[in-house]
Amino acid sequence: MALAIFLASLCFYTLLLPAGGLLILPDDTTELLLPSYDYIVVGGGVSGLVVANRLSEDTDVTVLVLEAGELDSSAGIVTVPGLIGHGFPPAYNWNFTTTPQAFLDNKTRDYGQGHVVGGGSILNGMVTTRGARADYDAWQALGNPGWGWQDMLPYFKKTERFSVDVSPERARTLHINPDPSVHGTDGPLEVTYPNFLYNQSLNFLRGLSELGVPLLADPNAGVAAGAMIAPASMSASNQSRMDSRRAYLDPVLHRPNLHLAVQQTVTRVLIGTNGTANIVAPPFGRLVRAYGVEYTASAESSRQKIFCSKEVILAAGAIISPALLQVSGIGPADLLDELNVTVKVDLPGVGQNFQDHPTVGVFYNYTKPGLSSTRNLTGDTLMRAKEEYFTNRTGPWTTPLITTIAFPHLTHLTATTNSTSSFLNLLTNTTIFTSLTHLPPTTTRHPALVRGYTAQLTLLLSTLLTDPAVGALEIMADSLGTLTVSSSLSSSRARGRRRRLMNIALDPRYCSHPADCALLVRGVGFSRRLVGATEAMGELEPEEEEEGVAWTEEVVEEMVKGRVQTEFHASGTTAMMPVDLGGVVGSRLVVHGTANVRVVDAGVMPLVVGAHIQAAVYAVAEKVCFVVVVVSI
Ligand SMILES: Cc1cc2nc3c(=O)[nH]c(=O)nc-3n(C[C@H](O)[C@H](O)[C@H](O)COP(=O)(O)OP(=O)(O)OC[C@H]3O[C@@H](n4cnc5c(N)ncnc54)[C@H](O)[C@@H]3O)c2cc1C
Ligand SMILES: *[C@@H]1O[C@H](CO)[C@@H](O)[C@H](O)[C@H]1NC(C)=O
Ligand SMILES: *[C@@H]1O[C@H](CO)[C@@H](O)[C@H](O)[C@H]1NC(C)=O
Ligand SMILES: *[C@@H]1O[C@H](CO)[C@@H](O)[C@H](O)[C@H]1NC(C)=O
Ligand SMILES: *[C@@H]1O[C@H](CO)[C@@H](O)[C@H](O)[C@H]1NC(C)=O
Ligand SMILES: *[C@@H]1O[C@H](CO)[C@@H](O)[C@H](O)[C@H]1NC(C)=O
Ligand SMILES: *[C@@H]1O[C@H](CO)[C@@H](O)[C@H](O)[C@H]1NC(C)=O
Ligand SMILES: *[C@@H]1O[C@H](CO)[C@@H](O)[C@H](O)[C@H]1NC(C)=O
Ligand SMILES: *[C@@H]1O[C@H](CO)[C@@H](O)[C@H](O)[C@H]1NC(C)=O
Ligand SMILES: *[C@@H]1O[C@H](CO)[C@@H](O)[C@H](O)[C@H]1NC(C)=O
Ligand SMILES: *[C@@H]1O[C@H](CO)[C@@H](O)[C@H](O)[C@H]1NC(C)=O
Ligand SMILES: *[C@@H]1O[C@H](CO)[C@@H](O)[C@H](O)[C@H]1NC(C)=O
Repeated sequence: MALAIFLASLCFYTLLLPAGGLLILPDDTTELLLPSYDYIVVGGGVSGLVVANRLSEDTDVTVLVLEAGELDSSAGIVTVPGLIGHGFPPAYNWNFTTTPQAFLDNKTRDYGQGHVVGGGSILNGMVTTRGARADYDAWQALGNPGWGWQDMLPYFKKTERFSVDVSPERARTLHINPDPSVHGTDGPLEVTYPNFLYNQSLNFLRGLSELGVPLLADPNAGVAAGAMIAPASMSASNQSRMDSRRAYLDPVLHRPNLHLAVQQTVTRVLIGTNGTANIVAPPFGRLVRAYGVEYTASAESSRQKIFCSKEVILAAGAIISPALLQVSGIGPADLLDELNVTVKVDLPGVGQNFQDHPTVGVFYNYTKPGLSSTRNLTGDTLMRAKEEYFTNRTGPWTTPLITTIAFPHLTHLTATTNSTSSFLNLLTNTTIFTSLTHLPPTTTRHPALVRGYTAQLTLLLSTLLTDPAVGALEIMADSLGTLTVSSSLSSSRARGRRRRLMNIALDPRYCSHPADCALLVRGVGFSRRLVGATEAMGELEPEEEEEGVAWTEEVVEEMVKGRVQTEFHASGTTAMMPVDLGGVVGSRLVVHGTANVRVVDAGVMPLVVGAHIQAAVYAVAEKVCFVVVVVSI
């Protein structure tokens, strides 16, 4: 209670509205919106703001961003890294809930998503990791020339304003030594290390070393398997959150050719066949064309239309973008029939191939006397931390919840349990691993979807699970003793489908593929070995939850199934793959069967990268702007 009151008192930043009226509030839309724009960007989150910024560099084109949420008010709960984990500001959340998870415990899960200018980057944990070279080479191998690691690297650099300001002592003990050749220093998005780290970070890294996990001097140079202090998307100078609004929008909102309308929810893409009769594009016959979107200020308000001459660019996130395509007539014909939507393009992959990193928290309370953790931030200590933050931009409030992470490779998990060999059999026996018996009929009735999924599983087996640079699991450490275990691979696939206005049936089908939960069970075993069998972690005097309970395989499996939740890495639902692999967009991110509908958000990842995904989302959006080619019609 005391904390809640205190947080409320932090909301003292004033909201600065940019001059010029280019930020369009709901009451002003009729007056201020142009009748037509060149580009309409749907969603002003991470990807949408990157694209809006880059497109509007050309003063000859007009760009409109329609965003369902509002501008955040720069309150401490958003900007102060040390306040991550205190919950999402309710107004900035879409409040999604999954359907009951039949392969876990039949219960639903909350699934928060950003409903605010800046999208997920206003709510996220700021962890900035790219994943491994092989993650992107797998995208390329799935039929996407030009999307391998070497192709992505220039765009990772283009987004970044990277800096390192850590003392030589800390750099040495915590193994922080980034490789300047893979970082950008003049991009819009500041990425850096916080001014403060809890001592437990060092115990974690040393403990993982004892278990044979290598320490990475730079986790973003193409090798992801190992333990690390991860950089964060935060400003080096004021140690506060850096997000897509502050990086990509605020500095350019004065551009007269860029309009942002907030609190406007797009409900449909307007699709016609205007002028496309001469474009023959097998297997679709001819391409359809978008000429605008329909939007509304609320469920009760009337729907409005706004037109565009070049493209509609969907950046509404991996959950909503496919739903918008479906209600606009682009999706699996059988589903659209059920929804009474006229089919414009029969594209079975829309809303399928959903991926995430299933995540389980395990609690090992560190009880060493005198240890400092976020638990100590109460009373006077909290007041001092706050004062130090605002006076000097130092101290515990500069540090995000998660700074210390490991992505162990599969081979690091051996010796964890007796049944490791049966687990390895599961992963390496192609017959079992690539079995399709767990897929729902809505997937198996489409041969292209089955081919695409099989191609993904085969890549997971042949390269991603064996490449020593790729982690199989993630373990995130906070200062209290929570070790959060996630599967870095996503073998299960799911689908989302649109029901009513922004009412989306989201079914991640967590652990429908047996490898996912089996891996998490090994991950929990590995975390117990880390705290129980290493000297470095023993120093923290960890306490096992439910002491005395025998942690048998069955007990851990039950625990995993009860706890699995999202890591907020929704992706894959508008996958960049060829049509014959069930893809939704091609390698220019244009939706198959359309001339001018693009998707640029996290949904286009054909395989989710084995890391936190925002760095990839920023870079994909930077890259697509470079390849924008309007199909002439
Ligand atoms: C709680 C949380 C924690 C996370 N932590 C991390 C982390 O530590 N590190 C990391 O790398 N990644 C993290 N992520 C993931 C990362 O933030 C997302 O992957 C990223 O934001 C996805 O970008 P996007 O452009 O696809 O979608 P978003 O950023 O979600 O943007 C979509 C935008 O579209 C708007 N929109 C949606 N539908 C409509 C509509 N119909 N009309 C108008 N506007 C619409 C939304 O309001 C939103 O602003 C986290 C995500 C969350 C939610
Ligand atoms: C999510 O819930 C909060 C609190 O209940 C509410 O304020 C907010 O408007 C909801 N978000 C949406 C998109 O409806
Ligand atoms: C979930 O529900 C299904 C169908 O009702 C049932 O068969 C299954 O046993 C349930 N699973 C759990 C873990 O409760
Ligand atoms: C921190 O600095 C960045 C620029 O480096 C700026 O965009 C942001 O608004 C500042 N944040 C706060 C909370 O002062
Ligand atoms: C053609 O485009 C115009 C706007 O440019 C729109 O008003 C009209 O409805 C479209 N026709 C069809 C058949 O989609
Ligand atoms: C589709 O139309 C049929 C017949 O009008 C109706 O019975 C059904 O409820 C509609 N389905 C949806 C999802 O609106
Ligand atoms: C963790 O340990 C501390 C110090 O011994 C104790 O005060 C606290 O109650 C414990 N918390 C939990 C959740 O067990
Ligand atoms: C932090 O709190 C714990 C009890 O929760 C206490 O044991 C420890 O001494 C405190 N640390 C500091 C630095 O005050
Ligand atoms: C970390 O450890 C050092 C040396 O033991 C100690 O001086 C320092 O106060 C500790 N820092 C925190 C944040 O606990
Ligand atoms: C800010 O830093 C100065 C110089 O190191 C120090 O003297 C002062 O106590 C600090 N202020 C706070 C509030 O921590
Ligand atoms: C491994 O198997 C042996 C013999 O079957 C058993 O005694 C031991 O408890 C098992 N260890 C684990 C961690 O399951
Ligand atoms: C793979 O598993 C299947 C089904 O259990 C079994 O028949 C086959 O012999 C296994 N193959 C190998 C190489 O172990």
